[in-house]
Amino acid sequence: MAIISLKEVFDYSFVKSAICSFNFVNLEQLYGIVAAADELQTPVVLMISQKTALKYGLEVMFNLAKSKVEKLHTPFVIHLDHAKNIELVEKAIDLGFSSVMFDGSSLSFDENIKKTYEVVKKAHRYGIAVEGEINAIYGKEEDGTPSAIVYTKVKDAKKFSEETEVDFLAVSVGTKHGLYEGTPSLRYDLINEISNSIKSKLVMHGCSGLTAEQLRKSIQSGIKKLNFGTEVMLTQINAIKKSLDNLSKPDIRPIMDSSIEEIKAYVKNTINSICISQ
Ligand code: G3H
Ligand code: ZN
Repeated sequence: MAIISLKEVFDYSFVKSAICSFNFVNLEQLYGIVAAADELQTPVVLMISQKTALKYGLEVMFNLAKSKVEKLHTPFVIHLDHAKNIELVEKAIDLGFSSVMFDGSSLSFDENIKKTYEVVKKAHRYGIAVEGEINAIYGKEEDGTPSAIVYTKVKDAKKFSEETEVDFLAVSVGTKHGLYEGTPSLRYDLINEISNSIKSKLVMHGCSGLTAEQLRKSIQSGIKKLNFGTEVMLTQINAIKKSLDNLSKPDIRPIMDSSIEEIKAYVKNTINSICISQ
């Protein structure tokens, strides 16, 4: 069972109202995330971003995740995140990803609908879930494109969801990628209104740096998938810094192991306080 589609994830009674999703860029991050989810027997989404896929190889990263989880009883989703390149999305579908995000938010609205629908038609033939995005999430995208905050309009979300038939939709409701300076103003009212108007399930990007309360309120308002990236990265960086101070022999493995343990603790805490306690 180990790899399931994001479409089926809500069929599991132990996924309460939302699913936590984590980006990983290396083996230790993956191992920490998987260990936490498996210990809690809670499915999570393992996300490989376009940037990571292009840097290290889509197939290499996919096979790393697949071989790590395929014999476990806990189900996992393997997801391609923020892919702007349609050929990469097609390659991911062919490889066996169980969820793909086509991020056409930098295209014109009509072009975004057209391209996203092409992805949906292909992915749905294989039972693979598709996430789309309108209004680029504030903050720097991984390709370095800065974007200004534009709150998603209900009518745009409705049109996009109906015409593309995406399973999941990333909307702009006040979050940003990366760390926050100051307090973000999240529009719970908007989350509520959009989620009541469309069939696609809502995704909140840029969850690093938000408080458990903000995340829980977002879920209560209608968010179904929460994306965490920067916090995984920072947890690993801090763990490595700390264990480098105590370096006793020339062996990188104990240093990397400490980062697996810290990431595991971070993910367990996130799942427990946000995705399970609802
Ligand atoms: O798609 C990935 C997420 O939106 C990650 O955002 O790095 O701010 O947690 P974050
Ligand atoms: Zn994102």
